[in-house]
Amino acid sequence: MSSERIEALLQRALEELHAATTQDALTEWHARYLGRRGDVTALLRQLGTLPPEERPAFGRAANALKEELQRAYEQREREIRELELAARIASEAVDVTLPGRVPPIGTLHPVTQMIREVTDIFAHLGFQVVEGPEVEYGYYAFDALNIPPEHPARDVWDTIFIESDQKEIVLRPHTSPMQIRVMQRRQPPIRVVVPGRCYRYEAVDATHEWHFHQIEGLAVDEHITMADLKGTLAEFARQLFGRERRVRFRCDFFPFVEPGVDFAIDCMFCRGEGCRVCGNSGWIEILGAGMVHPQVLRNVGYDPERYSGWAFGMGVERLVMLKYGVPDIRYFYQGDLRFLQQFDRIPV
Ligand code: DAH
Repeated sequence: MSSERIEALLQRALEELHAATTQDALTEWHARYLGRRGDVTALLRQLGTLPPEERPAFGRAANALKEELQRAYEQREREIRELELAARIASEAVDVTLPGRVPPIGTLHPVTQMIREVTDIFAHLGFQVVEGPEVEYGYYAFDALNIPPEHPARDVWDTIFIESDQKEIVLRPHTSPMQIRVMQRRQPPIRVVVPGRCYRYEAVDATHEWHFHQIEGLAVDEHITMADLKGTLAEFARQLFGRERRVRFRCDFFPFVEPGVDFAIDCMFCRGEGCRVCGNSGWIEILGAGMVHPQVLRNVGYDPERYSGWAFGMGVERLVMLKYGVPDIRYFYQGDLRFLQQFDRIPV
């Protein structure tokens, strides 16, 4: 074993050591040269095979090699640790001068926004906001509202029934049953609005959903007249659709009111000229209303000679469609963010 070979081994080991740039490569290098099966260890083992006179010189040279490589190894390990730390600091650095990321924030559903807008208007007119059950007895949904069983008007509300052996139970097809619940619980004066979900067994198309929202209104007291109804609804329509709105009342029929009316505003798209939205009539019907039927008052134990009142009911989706030109009611319940996010700037 000549000193040239030791020298050559040293050169090769040092070159490879400097080529190592990671902890893993370094560990591998250590095993290759200084480990139990490493080249240097193998070299030292050869000591015993040499003639005795060569042993001291070879031993010194081999040990010197081992020590030098060990030092170089430790030095390189420090360097690599620093290199890796520097790389990590660079890659994890936070640039505090970058603008912050805005987290996505949801928006209120247009129907929720409209319910708030409408109930706000009525709250300022002195109405209280109350809510009622979506699963309702047939008695409240129909009978007490002057729609007895077998009455043909009962078919108008295509009702979803819930199976029941005893009392008839339905998903409420309108918010009117809350008229009865409120009057049963309280004595006049009553002024309430009732927003809520309704359900109907309905074929879905551009203007019909099987699930939708209504807002009901009810005012009962002594001396309440149709003039109060007209004034209240006209003020409501002007706050929601613009002060310049003209309003129209026409006769209509609902079993729980007498007389019944439909309430319309002049079309805000064509200002009454006639267009697609108003079906060329110049008018847009926005709700049904009327004087509470004396029989309904009797059903809750009120004396119709003493008390009178009026009620109204409107579809919330329809109001949004009219106000913002939404062409199809099905958009409301498809969860399409492209539709919903268009309503994120409407003040609530
Ligand atoms: N409940 C009726 C419907 O769903 C709407 C309605 C009409 C409500 C006249 C009323 C009313 O309170 O007076 O079609």
